[in-house]
Amino acid sequence: MVLVVVVVLVVVVVVVVGGRVVVVLVVVVLGASVMVEGAAAVVVGSTASSPPQAAASRAPARSIRWTCMARTYPGGCHRGGVSAARSLRHDVLVVCPPGLEELVVGELIDLGAKRTRPHKGSVVTDLTTRQLYAANRHLRCATRVLVRVAGFTARTFADLERRLGEVDWSPWLSNEAQPTYRVTSRGSQLRHTGAIEERFAAALGTGHADGPGQLVVVRVSRDRFTISVDSSGAPLHERGWRQATAKAPLRESVAAALLLAAGWDPATPLVDPMCGSGTIPIEAALLAAGRAPGGGRDFAFRRWPCFEPGTWASVTATADSPVAPTPVILGADRDAGAVESARSNAERAGVADLVEFRQAPVSDLEAPGGGPGHLVTNPPWGGRLSPGGDLRNLYATLGTVAAGRLAGWGLGLLVADRVLARQVRPGLTESLHLDLGGQRATYLTGRLSGVS
Ligand SMILES: C[S@@+](CC[C@H](N)C(=O)[O-])C[C@H]1O[C@@H](n2cnc3c(N)ncnc32)[C@H](O)[C@@H]1O
Repeated sequence: MVLVVVVVLVVVVVVVVGGRVVVVLVVVVLGASVMVEGAAAVVVGSTASSPPQAAASRAPARSIRWTCMARTYPGGCHRGGVSAARSLRHDVLVVCPPGLEELVVGELIDLGAKRTRPHKGSVVTDLTTRQLYAANRHLRCATRVLVRVAGFTARTFADLERRLGEVDWSPWLSNEAQPTYRVTSRGSQLRHTGAIEERFAAALGTGHADGPGQLVVVRVSRDRFTISVDSSGAPLHERGWRQATAKAPLRESVAAALLLAAGWDPATPLVDPMCGSGTIPIEAALLAAGRAPGGGRDFAFRRWPCFEPGTWASVTATADSPVAPTPVILGADRDAGAVESARSNAERAGVADLVEFRQAPVSDLEAPGGGPGHLVTNPPWGGRLSPGGDLRNLYATLGTVAAGRLAGWGLGLLVADRVLARQVRPGLTESLHLDLGGQRATYLTGRLSGVS
């Protein structure tokens, strides 16, 4: 609602002209229009059931709508053209591979998050702008960081269009930005995700052909819409260094999780005797070097209109904190191509001097000095790498060699088949249950005792 206020000022001016007193009345009329708090909810947006024609007009609709969102999602509030986001908190959803939620909670607490609520495949929290930037740069086990920008109930497309018109997109989307959508709907009146996406595309526009992409995540559950913008861009496990891959590579975030869940102390040795493209040893070296996992890549939030370069500079200014003394980190694989990939990946990650890679079969495993440390590995699972018959022998060899040469070391074993894993060592603890893109896996941890 807009109030029009009119102020009338009457000024009496007395002048003496040629000995005569002249009284002049000056009437000044001042007009002003005032936006009343909460009125934003009625501004802009078609109530027709067909998508509104807003594609080319994202900009004019933006600047006036902050009032309503400020109450629920303060991160989106820009009062008087000055970003207030630094002192406010963003409502954040950190997405991660299912099974890694508790590790992500620990990482968020290390970054200063106060409240964390894990759900399957995600952790809900609230972060300051600085913590949001730091989360993208420093979280090792997460996939992406979403910022919730709106939440409302809509049961008809007319409702949806009206509510979309109330959302202030201006902090998150420049006029050039090209939104893409990920829509899911469960138990709701509006269940046709394609039609929902059409309404979003009409409300947000298509941006500029050369504009930056911006993922908008829309979740509809029992008629309740939750709308988030992705602050990460490429998934966070894409650190940038793993350009060469061997067979069945692990996500970098999962490799980091295996190290954290095993309780590996980065001041002690680490061995992966079936390292493939080197993901586990390279993540170990990044941990030991105290290097930010996202230190060599870009993030979507840097293209947001509300991006704060000074806050970002304070995050990137944080120095690496390497452990001392530098631990021995070893990777080995019987496959020459895998070892070559691992070496080139380590070069790109800037940790080639911290990791040694060898072409060798598991049976040649040797204990490096400085132990006890940890053996963390992801042996072949059969389905992906081998017809299966020889896996029992491979797992049994790993168990015998490890117990014989690494007695007293910690063990971390990512497997798909827990029965097969008993060949390595019975009685291991099931530390993580993972869902890796539909493939279930168990992470077993324990301690190697000597062969009797
Ligand atoms: C699941 S892959 C490891 C993937 C690795 N974690 C990565 O992220 O790239 C298993 C690896 O075990 C290796 N391997 C299989 N049998 C082996 C053996 N007897 N000795 C050493 N390496 C072996 C394979 O060459 C393969 O690279």
